[in-house]
Amino acid sequence: MEDKKKVILGVSGGISAYKTVYVASGLKKMGYDVHVIMTENAAKFVTPITFATMSGNKVVTDVFDPANDTPTEHIELGQTADLVLIAPATANTIAKLAHGIGDDMLTTTMLACTCPILISPAMNTKMFENPATQENLEILRRRGYEIIEPATGMLACGVEGKGKMPEPDVLISYVEQWISKEKDMAGLNVLVTAGPTEEAVDPVRFITNHSSGKMGYAIARMAARRGANVTLVSGRTALPREPFVETVDILSADDMFHAVTERAPDMDIIIKAAAVADFTPANPADQKIKKADLIADDTEGYGGMSISLAPTRDILAYLGEHRTEGQFLCGFAMETQDLLKNAAEKLVKKNVDMICANSLKTKGAGFAGDTNVVTIMAKDGITQLPLMTKLETADAILDEIMKRR
Ligand code: CTP
Repeated sequence: MEDKKKVILGVSGGISAYKTVYVASGLKKMGYDVHVIMTENAAKFVTPITFATMSGNKVVTDVFDPANDTPTEHIELGQTADLVLIAPATANTIAKLAHGIGDDMLTTTMLACTCPILISPAMNTKMFENPATQENLEILRRRGYEIIEPATGMLACGVEGKGKMPEPDVLISYVEQWISKEKDMAGLNVLVTAGPTEEAVDPVRFITNHSSGKMGYAIARMAARRGANVTLVSGRTALPREPFVETVDILSADDMFHAVTERAPDMDIIIKAAAVADFTPANPADQKIKKADLIADDTEGYGGMSISLAPTRDILAYLGEHRTEGQFLCGFAMETQDLLKNAAEKLVKKNVDMICANSLKTKGAGFAGDTNVVTIMAKDGITQLPLMTKLETADAILDEIMKRR
């Protein structure tokens, strides 16, 4: 593939180097040309052969290695790369980069590098907080390096604190964010809703639905990748936070109504992928409802209980009524029958520009999976998208929106 992007993965000597193996493997699977450069200390944690196997390219560790393709391999690598990710970046490597020291293959190559460089610091909390490390990071930031915030948690040294290297998926997202897409949505404010809502019956129970949030999260991720400023209003899901996306957590349909309508006036595009409850318990109990009380109240002998429900506010319909000049509204319709008829009705009734309809009955479509089959319905016609991953579907939905706005 001629437009294969070349990513240099710089690995310095920290225990989280083992996680970088997954980054190398993930990027290779996604079609990147991955070249790993290791410091001597990194090779004490993970052997170069592991990285060579997972990246599919030989690993360079030594500027003067006779096995290098050319005596100036560091210059060639540095100048032909599209992006560099250094993960883990130790305090020592960070210090060398900040002060222009090139005393090994990694730091020498970085001096010759003209592409963007991402740094993922990983170390003990005290080392990370040390003013020397912080000032070095600040120097790199000022020079345009992207510093990926370390995560907080239990560190290998047994201390709880900041300094963990983020998980491989997060690092891969950073790479994707930097090089994978044309930034055709730069400057646009996009609000996406995702996931289910939870409607309280009492402090212990709630009514919800099967939405996994995956479709909405995929849309948020792809919009961010295309340069948009993305706000994701999300119900409770099992999904990790999307980097580059501002996430607002909500629980109920009412929470979502407020979170969305407060922000709506500033938005250029709103995409409502959430599965919002249409009804909510009319009188949620303040205290846990006790079975014994229900049985005692059951004077008619029903042998059961009923919950009276009240309608929630239709957020999309509200947005349709209050839309600002030039704002684009996209809704979803998940149906089990009469997909096109119902979607067409929602397009008109809710006064929106586009409805992404999917049928729970179609193989590969629906809530929990990683694929979807979406029919796009707009005022100017219908477009059928093929079975694709939710990320590909998200990108195609954004293409359809960008064509029409
Ligand atoms: N929606 C919303 N607020 C609600 C209910 C739905 O904003 N209270 C939005 C959903 O996020 C989705 C669209 O409206 O984008 C369609 O949702 P859906 O549940 O398919 O349609 P409903 O209007 O609720 O109609 P029905 O349940 O009868 O299919």
